[in-house]
Amino acid sequence: MKTLYLDHQASTPVDDRVLQEMLPFFSETFGNPHSSEHASGWQSSAAIDTASQQVADLIGADSDEVIFTSGATEANNLALLGLARRAALTGSSRRRVLLSAIEHKCVLSTGRILADQYGNKVDLVPVDQDGYIILEELERLLDEDVLLVSIMAVNNEIGTIQDIKVLSEAIRKCGAVFHCDAAQAPTAMSVKNLAFHTDMASLSAHKMYGPKGIGALYIRRDLQEQIEPQIYGGGQQNGLRSGTLPTPLCVGMGAAAKFMGSAEASKKRSMLRARTDRFLDMLTVLPWPTQFYGPDRDKRHAGNISVGFPGFNAQDILGSLQPHLAASTGSACTSGIPEPSHVLRTIGLAAEQADSVIRFSLGFGTSDDDLERAVQLIEQALTNLSSDFI
Ligand SMILES: Cc1ncc(COP(=O)(O)O)c(C=O)c1O
Repeated sequence: MKTLYLDHQASTPVDDRVLQEMLPFFSETFGNPHSSEHASGWQSSAAIDTASQQVADLIGADSDEVIFTSGATEANNLALLGLARRAALTGSSRRRVLLSAIEHKCVLSTGRILADQYGNKVDLVPVDQDGYIILEELERLLDEDVLLVSIMAVNNEIGTIQDIKVLSEAIRKCGAVFHCDAAQAPTAMSVKNLAFHTDMASLSAHKMYGPKGIGALYIRRDLQEQIEPQIYGGGQQNGLRSGTLPTPLCVGMGAAAKFMGSAEASKKRSMLRARTDRFLDMLTVLPWPTQFYGPDRDKRHAGNISVGFPGFNAQDILGSLQPHLAASTGSACTSGIPEPSHVLRTIGLAAEQADSVIRFSLGFGTSDDDLERAVQLIEQALTNLSSDFI
């Protein structure tokens, strides 16, 4: 039987229309997009130009402000390391970096490298119990020595959607660069003003019905000269990220971006929210206590539910659900490391509470029947685990 997939914040399937657009670029139009001397290269290059424009259109940027990367991890690394390394090289007086305390591990780990290897002073911006940045705390930390602030648009574990406009106003007032990890944003909300409110923003195709292995960093045009590349070579992509671009993946990301910016995707987000609410109600009437984390229903990622089952261990529940249902404990990227989720700990959960939490993330293709089946499977798993205690 097929695994029921409720882990869309870890990865989404490639939309069939996206796949169809990609296919010709594997073996028909396969020329190196950087070969400027022949028609095969021009065809690939034109496809990449279209893809850059589609990604730019999604967030309200220009196509020369889009740098393709291998994913959001690399985009976040390029944003943070690129800015801080160049600032160090040019002797900038701005040496402090602020990161929200609930960033993805790839931002927090890069922050650690900035502190340990580049001598930056890195501070964490506190969040409240729902994961919202505490604005007064951010304002207190902002000063003329702050180089960069990195705050995610949408949290991958508890679904918190930050008010990017308000954060941006505070950050820009002090002249710092605002980087936003928006990997989870396109399936959660419209991101059409993202470029307007940020200086750099990271995206990932496989979180928005595109392929794995491709992402993008938006870098405001006039900021690009302040970014030190992380990969050196032939000088592709304004010299910011050398290497031959993977045409099929770029085309896939462009098609996914076009889909995310469409009226259809907006409708799907609304339908997703209604389904998620229904699933939450169904979980509430299970004959075991449940505890939900993150903001109220209408203020969070439309497909996200973060739910604790007190007295149970989430890893045991997920283990018992295999191979029937896919969900996640903490972030998929950190699963496997036996540490309670830093996000849940930061919003105030004790280690034992955090260990009881499962993230279900519904997708555009999740049906009502899927939810009925998911609840039956969860009920069965909890029943089996309860009888293990006796
Ligand atoms: C908020 C956030 N940022 C970054 C990443 C990393 O994305 P990628 O898999 O494209 O490297 C993830 C993946 O879970 C994420 O949720």
